[in-house]
Amino acid sequence: MRLNELLGIEFPFIQGGMANIATAEFAAAVSNAGALGLIGAGGMSPEVFQDSIRRCRTLTEKPFGVNIMLMHPQVEQLAAIAAQEKVAVVTTGAGDPARFIPAWKESGAKVFPVIPAVALAKVVARAGADAVIAEGTESGGHVGELTTMALVPQVADAVDIPVIAAGGIADGRQLLAAYALGAIGAQVGTCLLVSEECPIHENYKKAVLKAKDRDTVVTGRSVDAPVRILRNQMSREYLAREKAGADRMELEHYTLGSLRRAVFDGDTKTGSLMAGQVAGMLHEIKPLRQIFEELNSGCAKRLAELEL
Ligand SMILES: Cc1cc2nc3c(=O)[nH]c(=O)nc-3n(C[C@H](O)[C@H](O)[C@H](O)COP(=O)(O)O)c2cc1C
Repeated sequence: MRLNELLGIEFPFIQGGMANIATAEFAAAVSNAGALGLIGAGGMSPEVFQDSIRRCRTLTEKPFGVNIMLMHPQVEQLAAIAAQEKVAVVTTGAGDPARFIPAWKESGAKVFPVIPAVALAKVVARAGADAVIAEGTESGGHVGELTTMALVPQVADAVDIPVIAAGGIADGRQLLAAYALGAIGAQVGTCLLVSEECPIHENYKKAVLKAKDRDTVVTGRSVDAPVRILRNQMSREYLAREKAGADRMELEHYTLGSLRRAVFDGDTKTGSLMAGQVAGMLHEIKPLRQIFEELNSGCAKRLAELEL
């Protein structure tokens, strides 16, 4: 069964729950365009999160979900709100959500944890997850070590629940590869940054469009907080501090507010421009629906062309 059939939607795609970007308006726009929109709770207070869910309901009649980053300081409250508001899908990032899964499932939600490795996939499958989102290190934002190519088939072999591939998917060739690796659909983030509807500052969009294949870098590996961003003054300074032995506290202090500076102020020098390695493939701003249609049609076209 494909992801769209599982969710009762048109396209087999989930929009990654991008903190500060995935607002109620953006999630609704994605769901209205035929994929699954997610409200990104990272960076939201519990009150804003609850309001966002309620606002999203007024903006779309289609299913939508929420993304909860497990390192959020108010994660317990966010988790309770997701259950109370009976959202269709809960995805989680950066950790093990097992303790929240029973309450979410009781509320009727489907639970799709994002996992960077086989061990966590097994843990969440045992805890009752409905599917896992296997996210490779090509992705924008917080990342693990393994590539999508190596991770997805190993996860597909290790668990009995469906696998959704994330990381490095921006056109139909990559979608076809994800299916070949054992996925039932894809979660995408970077390719949606350059959608017409994405609420990031124009300078951020331009920086993604300008990026080439090697223009992203992972900061924070030495302090166990790896994040993939576009190279800029901030990433260079961060890496220099890391090399000089700065600890996690100092580095966190240095990046305080940097994602908001990128998203809202369009500060491409000291802002944190999260983006994945596929940024180098993106050359045009397009409506969300066109992005989803082209992913699907590009996949079918490539499959028909293959001579195996
Ligand atoms: C700007 C940006 C912010 C992100 N923030 C989050 C987040 O808050 N929570 C999360 O689980 N994943 C986050 N991600 C990862 C996405 O949900 C998704 O898995 C990833 O973008 C897929 O890989 P791709 O960037 O190659 O499309 C973010 C990605 C980007 C590009």
